[in-house]
Amino acid sequence: MSLKNKINSAKLPKHIAIIMDGNGRWAKQKGAERIYGHENGVKAVRDTVEAAAEIGIEYLTLYAFSTENWNRPKDEVVALMQLLVHTIHAETPTLNKNNIRLQAIGDLKSLPGNCYDELMEAMEATKNNTRTTLVLALSYSSRWEIIEAVKNIALKVEQKTILSSDISEDLFTSHLCTANMPEPELMIRTSGEHRISNFLLWQLAYAELYFTDKFWPDFTKDDFYEAIIDYQNRERRFGKTSEQLIS
Ligand code: IPE
Ligand code: IPE
Ligand code: MG
Repeated sequence: MSLKNKINSAKLPKHIAIIMDGNGRWAKQKGAERIYGHENGVKAVRDTVEAAAEIGIEYLTLYAFSTENWNRPKDEVVALMQLLVHTIHAETPTLNKNNIRLQAIGDLKSLPGNCYDELMEAMEATKNNTRTTLVLALSYSSRWEIIEAVKNIALKVEQKTILSSDISEDLFTSHLCTANMPEPELMIRTSGEHRISNFLLWQLAYAELYFTDKFWPDFTKDDFYEAIIDYQNRERRFGKTSEQLIS
C-alpha cells in the first residue's frame, strides 16, 4: 500500500505549517553556491503544495523568508527575492489550474517593490480558488506579528473602540496575520534543526511537531505523507488524560 493510501482522510489536519530548511547545506554538500539550494527547493515546494491539495489539506503555510533572514549576505537576499518574484509569476497559472488560493503573512511592505507587486497580483488572481490555501510567510517573524497585534489592540483601546476588558484569546487571535485561518495542527521542519525560529509562536501552542533530517530540496510527497501518518498516530490530549479522551 502506498503511503498516500495509508492516510486516514477522516483525521486530516486542516492546517500544516512547514519550516523549509536546509537549502544552503544541500548546495554545500554538492559543492555549489547556497542559491543553487534555494533554486532546487522550488521543486519541493511544488510537490508539497500538490500533495497537500491532492489529499485535501485546507491550509498549507510555508516559511519562505524570516525577518531575521534580512541579515544574510546581500547577494543571497537579492537572489532569494528574485527567485521569489520569478517563482510566483511562473506558478500562478498552475495554482489556478489546481484551484489553489495564494495568501501571504508577514511584513509584506518591507519586500522589494516588484516582489510585493507580483505577490499581490498572484493573490488577486487566485483569490476565488477553494481547494487549498497556500500561505507564504514572507519577511515574517512571530514576535513582529505579535507586537503588531498588540499595537493595533492598544490603539483600539485608546480610541475607545474596545475596552481593555474585551481583550481575550479570540480577540488577540483575530489581530494576527493568521486571523480566519485554523491553527496548524502539524508543524514540519526539515534539515535536522529542532527549533521554531520565530515561526507562529502563538498559533503553534498545541501543534504536533515533526522533524526530519532531510534537507528541503530532497523533501518529497512521500516525506509529506509520512509526516501526516506520524501525526495521525499521536494522541493529542490538550492537557487532559488519555482515559478522558476515550470516554
Ligand atoms: C532555508 O534554507 C531557506 C531560507 C531560510 C530562505 P537555508 O538557507 O536556511 O539553508 P541552511 O539552513 O543554511 O542549510
Ligand atoms: C528559518 O530558517 C526561516 C525559514 C525557513 C525561512 P533559518 O535557517 O533562517 O533558521 P535558523 O536561523 O537556522 O534558526
Ligand atoms: Mg537554515
